[in-house]
Amino acid sequence: MAPHAPAAAEDPSLLTAGPPPHDGSTGRCVVEVTTPASRYEIRIGRGLLAEPGSWAGLPAAADGVIVSNTTVWPIHGPALCAAIAPRHRQVTHVLLADGEEHKDWSSLQTIYDHLLRTGCDRKTLLYALGGGVVGDITGFAAATYMRGVPFVQVPTTLLAQVDSSVGGKTAINHPLGKNMIGAFHQPVRVLCDLDTLSTLPAREFAAGLAEIIKYGPIHDEGFLGWIEANLDALLAREPAALARAVQRSCEIKAEVVGADERESGLRAILNFGHTFGHAIEAALGYGRWLHGEAVGCGMVLASQLSADLGLVPGGFVERMRRLVQRAGLPTAAPAFPSERWLELMRHDKKAEAGEIRFVLVDRPGHAVVRAAPDERVLAAIRRHSATGPGGPPPA
Ligand SMILES: NC(=O)c1ccc[n+]([C@@H]2O[C@H](COP(=O)([O-])OP(=O)(O)OC[C@H]3O[C@@H](n4cnc5c(N)ncnc54)[C@H](O)[C@@H]3O)[C@@H](O)[C@H]2O)c1
Ligand SMILES: [Zn+2]
Repeated sequence: MAPHAPAAAEDPSLLTAGPPPHDGSTGRCVVEVTTPASRYEIRIGRGLLAEPGSWAGLPAAADGVIVSNTTVWPIHGPALCAAIAPRHRQVTHVLLADGEEHKDWSSLQTIYDHLLRTGCDRKTLLYALGGGVVGDITGFAAATYMRGVPFVQVPTTLLAQVDSSVGGKTAINHPLGKNMIGAFHQPVRVLCDLDTLSTLPAREFAAGLAEIIKYGPIHDEGFLGWIEANLDALLAREPAALARAVQRSCEIKAEVVGADERESGLRAILNFGHTFGHAIEAALGYGRWLHGEAVGCGMVLASQLSADLGLVPGGFVERMRRLVQRAGLPTAAPAFPSERWLELMRHDKKAEAGEIRFVLVDRPGHAVVRAAPDERVLAAIRRHSATGPGGPPPA
């Protein structure tokens, strides 16, 4: 048994002895992630964070260190601290400034300083409490401190629960590019407490929906239909709908990451809408549109390109556009000159030798990665462009 496997006696409610993985009575489930070098659980449900049983089966560590930010810590920090206190000789915390602009060397240094000053050793367990920014930076600190210590993801944004906390990609930004300094380092557990989503601002919530929507067209048409049918319940943050959406998203991400941990092939499909989205983010300046907003619009453009290349019928584009719009995400791209679009996409980290590679849908529920002629790409963008610079204000 892996060292972090759950101890049945401590928390029987979370154990799954096979399908069905979702427990309708408690709204809780466990999704397993298995990569060549690691195996860990994503525990999903309400009220998990404050329960000591949620933390059963983690590696023994004298020191527990919670990394969070100044927004999330006051809401959830004390409860997490109390829940994990029995597991450690001491629990300390280190707080980072809030914002993507702080996903940098300086914040990383703050974490290292804290770990060294408090005498943390190679067995120290880090807990990343926050959104994707805290998760990515804590993961990178864990990957590098004393050549690697274990860490737990406690994602508190929808985007982090369905995407960034799973899969082991960790990074900080460099002034010349987002996520350019990083490492693969899998967490030992991911704990998605659905109750944390209740305080998330509406715009951040919608941005997370974009990453949920993404999984449908690339991997599971049935899930796409489910999202369409349940979007109002999701927008109302109904617990049962949220549980199902987070569970299915994590299952798909786990499956894809398990098959291709280091993104040599299949994992690239998770970037559906992202080549266009990254270009929008970079051109507008990071933070103007949230990542999920740019991805929402990017999925419309990628669907259009898929249709224009004859891979899917035109009706699929309208299906995706309507869904993205209903989710409260922008569907019209900002207006930039053609050359600017191409230049930005050629510089995307995912481009190979300057060739832009797109994730395209070749049938609803299935994706392929391929290059496309510039004129087709620009035509797809023009079909969905707003007039005037900067595009419409995001919904
Ligand atoms: N590692 C990966 O595979 C991967 C995948 C996708 C995105 N990412 C990264 O994730 C980051 C974006 O993550 P994000 O969208 O979670 O942004 P974020 O971490 O900046 O969080 C968004 C905002 O919500 C606040 N917040 C978090 N939880 C809250 C809560 N429960 N209640 C109220 N406010 C809360 C945060 O403090 C922040 O202000 C980017 O840096 C991106 O590069 C990584
Ligand atoms: Zn994304």
